[in-house]
Amino acid sequence: MAEFDVVVIGAGPGGYVAAIRCAQLGMKVACVDEWKNAQGKPSLGGTCLNVGCIPSKALLESSENFEKISHDFEAHGITAKEVQIDIAKMLVRKDKIVSDFTSGIASLFKKNKVTAIQGRASLQERAGDVWNVAVAGGEMLRAKHVIIATGSTPRVLQQAPLDGERVVDNSGALAFAEVPQRLAIIGAGVIGLELGSVWRRLGSEVTILEAMPAFMPAADEQVAKEALRAFTKQGLKIHLGVLIEKIVKSKQEVTLKWKDAQGATQELLADKLIVAVGRVANSEGLAAAAVGLKLDAAGRIEVDEHCRSNLPNVYAVGDVVRGPMLAHKASEEGVMVAEIIAGQAGHCDLNLVPWVMYATPEIAWVGKTEQQLKKDGVAYKAGQFPFMANGRARALGETGGFVKILADSFSDRILGVHIIGAMASELIQQGVTAMAFSASSEDLARTIHAHPSLSEVVHEAALAVDKRTIHI
Ligand code: FAD
Ligand code: NAI
Repeated sequence: MAEFDVVVIGAGPGGYVAAIRCAQLGMKVACVDEWKNAQGKPSLGGTCLNVGCIPSKALLESSENFEKISHDFEAHGITAKEVQIDIAKMLVRKDKIVSDFTSGIASLFKKNKVTAIQGRASLQERAGDVWNVAVAGGEMLRAKHVIIATGSTPRVLQQAPLDGERVVDNSGALAFAEVPQRLAIIGAGVIGLELGSVWRRLGSEVTILEAMPAFMPAADEQVAKEALRAFTKQGLKIHLGVLIEKIVKSKQEVTLKWKDAQGATQELLADKLIVAVGRVANSEGLAAAAVGLKLDAAGRIEVDEHCRSNLPNVYAVGDVVRGPMLAHKASEEGVMVAEIIAGQAGHCDLNLVPWVMYATPEIAWVGKTEQQLKKDGVAYKAGQFPFMANGRARALGETGGFVKILADSFSDRILGVHIIGAMASELIQQGVTAMAFSASSEDLARTIHAHPSLSEVVHEAALAVDKRTIHI
C-alpha cells in the first residue's frame, strides 16, 4: 500500500496543476488518471489537452488560415490559386500538438516527482485521518488529503444517441476524416460555434439548432447581437428556440426532425451531426455515496469557496464542481487547494474568470454584463470603442467589433469588460488584471498603450467611459 501526503484523482488542468503545485510545496503526491488515447496509451491532460481546448484551437488556426488565404489575401495584392486543404495532414498536426503537450505533462510530473498512476480511482473508508483510494486493478493508495479533479463528460441527448461515426460529440467532431458537405449541430454553445466555425471555414454548410430563444444568453446582449450578425453573415445558419424531436439515421445521411420557434415541423438532412448540448460533472465511479461525499442536484461535488467538500481533507476542483467549466478556472482552483493544504492562504475569485470564444470574431468577457448590472440595480457608466477606428485593426483587416467597459457610476471601479473582435482572447487580460487590482476606468485610461496596437481599443474604451475618446 503506497503512502502519500496527497492523492489527486484526475490529471486534467485542475488535477495536474494541483499535483505539481502540491509537489512544489514539498508534499509527496500521486496523481491517478484513467484517460487513454486512441492508441490505448495513458494520456495526461484530461479533456482540455486530449479533446478540448488544445485540439480545437489547433483546428481553428488551420481553418482560419485556409479561409484567409482563400478569401482575404486578395486585398493585400496576394493571389493564391487553387488553394487546397489536406485534412489528414491538418489532423496529424493537431494530434502532434496534443501528444507534445500530454507527454509534456508526464515530463513535468517526473521533474516535480509526482507519481503518475494509470487507472480509475475511487474513495474508500477513511482509517484514522488517512483516506484510502482504490485504483481499479488492485492498487490501494493512502493519503491524508485527496483532491478530486475528475472533470466532465458531454451531456447525452436522448433523441440523438452518439454512434461515433455519423452522430458525434466534440471528440468525433475534432477528427472528421473529410469535410462533411452538410453539417448539423445541436447546441449553439461554445463547442457548437467553435467547431461549427472550423468546418464552415473548410467548406461545410453548417446548420445549428439551439433550444434557447436567445443567442448566447450569458454574454452581454450587445455583444451577442453583434456576434449573431457576424456568424450569420459568414454563412452559419442558426435557428433559435427549436425542439429536437427525432433523429433518423441511414447509411448515407442523418435526418433531423425538429420544431421551429413558431411550432412548425422542420426537417434537416446532414452528412454529420455534432451533439454539443453542455457537459455533466464526472462524479460517477468515485464511490461518492459509499463514503458520504455530498453531490448537488446536477451531480457536482458540493464545495465551499475554498473547494472543500463535506468530507474532511477531501477537496474538489474544476468541472466537477460549481462555476464555469473552463480550464483556467480548474487550474486556479487546483493551485488554491494546494496552497491551502500547505497552510497558505489560497484564493480564487470566480467573478474574475475570463470567458473566451475562439471563433471569428473572437468574443471575450470578464465581470458583469449590462443586463446583470441593470438587474442588480447598480448605477454604471459604459464606454465603448470600435476596432474600425484602430490603426492596427485596419492593417490586419480585422475591423469588426468593439470593446465595452462598464464602470461604477460613483467609484469608477471597473465592473465588466466585453470584447468582440480581433484577438479578444488576448485583450481581455487587460480587463482581468485591471479588475483584479480594483482599477478604475481612469486607471486604465491613464495607462500608456503601445501604438499601433489592438490594445489601444481597450484604452479608448476606458477613455470613452468618461466621454473623452481621442480617435472618434
Ligand atoms: P478534465 O479536463 O475533464 O479532466 C478530468 C480527468 O479526470 C480526465 O483525464 C478523466 O479521464 C479523469 N478521471 C475522471 N474520473 C476519474 C476517476 N474516477 N479516476 C481516475 N481518473 C478519472 N476551456 C477553456 O478554458 N478554454 C478553451 O478553449 C476550452 N475549449 C474546450 C473545447 C472543447 C471541445 C471542450 C470539450 C472543452 C473545452 N474547454 C475549454 C473546457 C475545458 O476542457 C475544461 O473546463 C477542463 O478540461 C476542465 O478541467 P478538469 O481538470 O476539471 O477536468
Ligand atoms: P454550452 O453550455 O456552451 O452550450 C450548450 C448549448 O446547447 C446551450 O446553448 C443550450 O441551450 C443548448 N442545448 C441544450 N440542450 C439542447 C437541446 N435539447 N436542443 C438544442 N439545444 C440544446 O455547452 P457546450 O458547447 O457543449 O460546451 C461545454 C462547455 O465546455 C462550455 O460550457 C464551456 O464551459 C466549455 N468550453 C469552453 C470553450 C472555451 O472556453 N473557448 C470552448 C468549448 C467548450
